[in-house]
Amino acid sequence: MHIHFRTGPMLINVLPFTSIAFQGAVPFGNTFVTEADDVVRYRREILVHAHKGFNPIMSIMLVNKTTPEIVEESFLAGARVLKWIPGGTSTNSKDGVSLLDMKKYYPVFAKAESLGMIVSVHWEAILNFASGKEIPMLYREEAAIQFFVQLATDFPGLKIVAEHITTKEMVKTVEILYGMGCNVAATITSHHPVLTYSDVCDADGNVINPLNYCLPIAKLDQDRLAIRKAMVSGKPYNFYGGDSAPHPIFWKSLKLLKGKSPRAGIFSAPVEIPQQLETFEKEGALDKFEDFHSVFGPQFYGIPLSQETLTVKKETWRVPYEYEGIPIFRGGEELSWQIA
Ligand code: DOR
Ligand code: ZN
Ligand code: ZN
Repeated sequence: MHIHFRTGPMLINVLPFTSIAFQGAVPFGNTFVTEADDVVRYRREILVHAHKGFNPIMSIMLVNKTTPEIVEESFLAGARVLKWIPGGTSTNSKDGVSLLDMKKYYPVFAKAESLGMIVSVHWEAILNFASGKEIPMLYREEAAIQFFVQLATDFPGLKIVAEHITTKEMVKTVEILYGMGCNVAATITSHHPVLTYSDVCDADGNVINPLNYCLPIAKLDQDRLAIRKAMVSGKPYNFYGGDSAPHPIFWKSLKLLKGKSPRAGIFSAPVEIPQQLETFEKEGALDKFEDFHSVFGPQFYGIPLSQETLTVKKETWRVPYEYEGIPIFRGGEELSWQIA
């Protein structure tokens, strides 16, 4: 329920390869899909390169110019999701609406609610709004929770997905809001349940392993454990959203150049299913995998369940380091499951 195919040559490279095991996906266009025309164009581009029958659930990005009219036109053009990456939070998010401006966009959220659209949010706050100081990456998701609670309680009927959750506080927040009757859910990637901050950064906060670097950044072990528990919980508000985000090796290597940071984003699509199966198996919860992976997400989105099946086998394989110059998550390591 969350993937980046990009556009142009990158899409041509990764889309056929990363969509093959899926009947559909929610491809996020970041800043280049913001209105109805973009939705039509991007959908067409995806369908040209995907396998027959592949169903992309289209989105637009909430940007400063977004109005209720744009939301409605985009819905009529096929968009079902309004994606919000607060400005400056992550890759390609510079035109995103700031968390502080959330209330200005209430008419936009009201329109999304009335159309039954999903609001899909990258919950991270970069600035401490009282002091104006930058918040360290480890605490940015937690700092955004107050905005999530405000939005969900002001719009209890609005379907809100907290994307790629990374903290025990966020796991709890989704659980509580859901318990209060809010229409909320969370997606969980394949990589956050197996990474912690020390797999990405050194003690001074420098990225030492760019290939494990994504935003929100992996947190502490207690957070990782809470996410794993949520993943195998069998609760319908926790479901799969891989957030596979391909970047060419050059952009992932930028920390090697002085003063630059590598691009955030992990190209995980080639390993997501085996990686998740490993996690479910280690948690003794393989019976919960299908609901998490293929049922709860489509149910929340209100789309038909896939009638196709996918066969996996327990057989060890070594993940290639890269695909067409894009480093792959877990490259060079062994995984114990594979797609048959
Ligand atoms: O690490 C990330 N990469 N997080 C995001 O939210 C965006 C993504 C990307 O597009 O590369
Ligand atoms: Zn995101
Ligand atoms: Zn994403």
